[in-house]
Amino acid sequence: MSPLSLARAAADELAARTGITRLDIAVTLGSGWKSAIDHLGRPVAAIPAAEIPGFAASGVAGHSGLLTVVELASGEHALVIGARTHLYEGRGVDAVVHGVRTAAAAGAHTVVLTNGAGGLQPHWKPGQPVLIRDHINLTATSPITGAEFVDLTDLYTPRLREIAKDVAPDLEEGVYAQFPGPHYETPAEVAMVGRIGGTIVGMSTALEAIAARQAGLEVLGISLITNLAAGVQDQPLDHSEVLEAGRLAEPYLGPLLARIVSRLTEK
Ligand code: HPA
Repeated sequence: MSPLSLARAAADELAARTGITRLDIAVTLGSGWKSAIDHLGRPVAAIPAAEIPGFAASGVAGHSGLLTVVELASGEHALVIGARTHLYEGRGVDAVVHGVRTAAAAGAHTVVLTNGAGGLQPHWKPGQPVLIRDHINLTATSPITGAEFVDLTDLYTPRLREIAKDVAPDLEEGVYAQFPGPHYETPAEVAMVGRIGGTIVGMSTALEAIAARQAGLEVLGISLITNLAAGVQDQPLDHSEVLEAGRLAEPYLGPLLARIVSRLTEK
């Protein structure tokens, strides 16, 4: 089955299981963002992702493994994706962007991509959310095959970033560099990112944003800085500390994300 047919099948199955035939916005919850689901609105149905065509149970701690349809205060419906597939899981790029394509097939106009990531700015603190202004794709791959030349100028929609900053004026912006992972970067790789203009390092989001733009969606990206990147901080990186930073930030992140999503879907 082609990736777009698989996304269509997933959207149809979600509609059949939830009774909601059109989704307006999708929100992907990365590491540290899981509990935001409690703040977004009224859950209509929470479905183990593995039961929907093309999705798999998340192999990564910190992800719920659920696809949840939520009714927002505006009456619009959000698909909350708690089952991100990462490139390093080896399921291929189409699996990585399947959630975004499913949201597009279900009618979504906007996707909010969240993640946990390393920061290059020494003044950033673990637990701090940062808006993604642009990205550098260091995965050497693309979700697009064939001669389709999608424009990525303003990939992270300026209008949506302005709305987010209106909600939280202290939000800073950064440039997200996606590595394939799953190992963290070396200090030399982090230094390279700094020289080429990146300020955030992570293992997701950029490929999903590209697929979203190909599908005509507007994109907002927010990174939770869980740690300073390798070499920026002097201690070694530890995944349990990454998860802990997420846990500590959750009480702040959930309401923040809910306020932003609510503004994005205001009529
Ligand atoms: N690098 C890449 N991915 C990450 C990091 C990091 O430092 N922290 C959390 N996810």
